[in-house]
Amino acid sequence: MSSQMTSAPAASTRREAFGGRWIFILAAMGSAVGLGNIWRIPYIAYENGGGAFIIPYLVALLSAGIPLLFFDYALGHRFKGSPPLAFRRLAKWTETIGWWKAMICVVIGLYYAAILGWAASYIFFSATEAWGDDPDAFFFENYLQMSETPGVELTIVPGVFWPMLAIWVAVLVVLALGVRRGIGMASAIGIPILVLMFLVLVGIALTLPGAISGLDSLFTPNWAALLDPGVWIAAYGQIFFSLSVGFGIMITYSSYLKKRTNLTGSGLVVGFSNSGFEILAGIGVFSALGFMAQAAGVEIAEVVTSGIGLAFVAFPEIISQAPLGLGPIIGVLFFGSLLFAGFTSMISILEVTLSAVKDKTGWSRTTVVFTFGVALALLSLLGFGTTSGLHLLDVSDYFVNQFGIVAAALVAVVCVSWLLRRLDRMVKHLNMVSSFRLGSIYKFLIAVVLPIVLVYTLVAEMISELGGEEAYGGMPDWYVNTFGWGMAISLIVIGFLLSLIPWSKNSALYNERSENEYGLDATDLADGKHAAEPDTEQEVRS
Ligand code: ALA
Repeated sequence: MSSQMTSAPAASTRREAFGGRWIFILAAMGSAVGLGNIWRIPYIAYENGGGAFIIPYLVALLSAGIPLLFFDYALGHRFKGSPPLAFRRLAKWTETIGWWKAMICVVIGLYYAAILGWAASYIFFSATEAWGDDPDAFFFENYLQMSETPGVELTIVPGVFWPMLAIWVAVLVVLALGVRRGIGMASAIGIPILVLMFLVLVGIALTLPGAISGLDSLFTPNWAALLDPGVWIAAYGQIFFSLSVGFGIMITYSSYLKKRTNLTGSGLVVGFSNSGFEILAGIGVFSALGFMAQAAGVEIAEVVTSGIGLAFVAFPEIISQAPLGLGPIIGVLFFGSLLFAGFTSMISILEVTLSAVKDKTGWSRTTVVFTFGVALALLSLLGFGTTSGLHLLDVSDYFVNQFGIVAAALVAVVCVSWLLRRLDRMVKHLNMVSSFRLGSIYKFLIAVVLPIVLVYTLVAEMISELGGEEAYGGMPDWYVNTFGWGMAISLIVIGFLLSLIPWSKNSALYNERSENEYGLDATDLADGKHAAEPDTEQEVRS
């Protein structure tokens, strides 16, 4: 990133790269396996047909999740850049889409840090069961000191602020260390630890009294649910966030791959490992909920919950009631798993934004981390380390996921498939480097099925949101209009404005040459000329 652009193409630098394909796979798994896998999917499956949910889930995975994963890989690997750079190289006017995705990652990263901070605190609380007899009151009142009504309150909550700060420091250190020594190492260490901890947790949960009835409730199929379109929307809605596709992460990570990397083969490993972890989480969480229901002498339906309620209210209760002194062990394993799963996801989310800034400015990674990274940390601490943080988290999570990710994915596939007609080239690229070859079914899924599914999901969600009597979550209109709709729309506007800023002469666009350019020099790519692109596998391999 150091060379200056002169009249001739600059002596180009090479893009950072992962240490190997397996490190990339671990990093992609680390990104995919996150909070969503542990606290969201078990409840979604239970609510949407139980055992029968496996059908819409698999259909969504195979028809949308994995195809979109390959699509992101192709963009990142072919155009070797963070989303703004990859889209800029695809076609100048699509740069906005790249920034839009980078901005979505900003919002997710800001609140993700808060949840990781809570999980870190709860590892310690588990040792003494600090929540006493009332985990609900402890979490919302004592720990979060949550304000009664949504609003903008900048009263810092020290118990939340300090763990969040520690998370930010750790994340920024990993990112400052770079792709190979930072992200690669963190994933290579974090994922095996996570899997081990979670397997032990599931093993313990299965031995708890009532576990089997919990599993029964999760897996008993309700086939009639398959006739409900809402069940299918739930399956498709879950898959994008869960696989980390559609918001730039996989574009960024695949830009750090060497020229000849088996993209589709790696994608299948990542996709199915992520699903394997989701099934494991379902087993662990429902065994524990089965135990909780039995201990309280109530039906499982009365105790099932997801998200924050599951992790920070139900699990503390389970920990308090666990027999044989197992409580603290379950606590450390559960909150430790949340922390590890979330940490490797958070570095991937933040890397999208930081690599976008790095690509555009040509600044060093350390400079970007210590300027933009620190600015994001401050914003996150002010927004979510305060008494009003939970309200903000709730509304921003909902709007960025249900509208931001889905809409940005829709615009990207429509632009590539229909407006630019570049899908054939992308498939050719994937096939040139991969073992598992794609053909017309894949193109049909991306160009036709995916846009239909995404439009349907988006419209259904908008109707339910706009048609309700109250604004989201019963919050005040002004609040939802500002931090929900306003935030979601402003991400596009900010993305557009950022795309208007000229690329620095030191930027990756002009200076970064990769093995993957197949004979194109950096200026050809910068000008959007792709005439020299090879059309045959021989050309690439030669
Ligand atoms: N894929 C990550 C998660 O599930 C972002 O939390």
